[in-house]
Amino acid sequence: MQEIAEKTLVLLKPEAVRRKLIGRILSRFEDANLTIEKLNLTSFKRETLAELYKEHRGKDFYDNIVSGFAGKTMVALVLAGPEGTIPKVRSLIGATDPLQAAPGSIRGDLACHMQPDNLIHASDSSEAAARELSLFFPDLQD
Ligand code: PPS
Repeated sequence: MQEIAEKTLVLLKPEAVRRKLIGRILSRFEDANLTIEKLNLTSFKRETLAELYKEHRGKDFYDNIVSGFAGKTMVALVLAGPEGTIPKVRSLIGATDPLQAAPGSIRGDLACHMQPDNLIHASDSSEAAARELSLFFPDLQD
């Protein structure tokens, strides 16, 4: 049995679904021995996305991501693993801008631009993970 010490929220953004990249991206996490504890293929309301990205309200890309993602099919995941899972997932994903993302990372290999999106989101700290997991998986137990 794998020790579960940390959980994080991952979202596959609309471009990942549109480009049929779900399976390839999920394989990256399973290959890294992380556990997909929950998975929801669905669309989200604008209010949920506005809450996720609330610290970016007012920035020039805010409306593109909040209104642009609302109502489009996405995948929300609870990824679980040992201590260090949150930074590990961020490292597997790669830099925010796909042009800066290292080869071998998900964005480095599969993403090409910021717009309409850079394929994937993951919580960047344990505080963010707690907040974001409760937003997308309100019934999740510790
Ligand atoms: S900032 O300004 O440095 O705080 O922003 P950053 O942390 O780089 O990004 C915050 C989230 O917004 C996404 N983002 C964008 N999406 C589309 N287009 C543009 N130009 C853009 N700039 C930033 C970025 O991917 C972050 O979202 P997540 O979901 O965490 O990847």
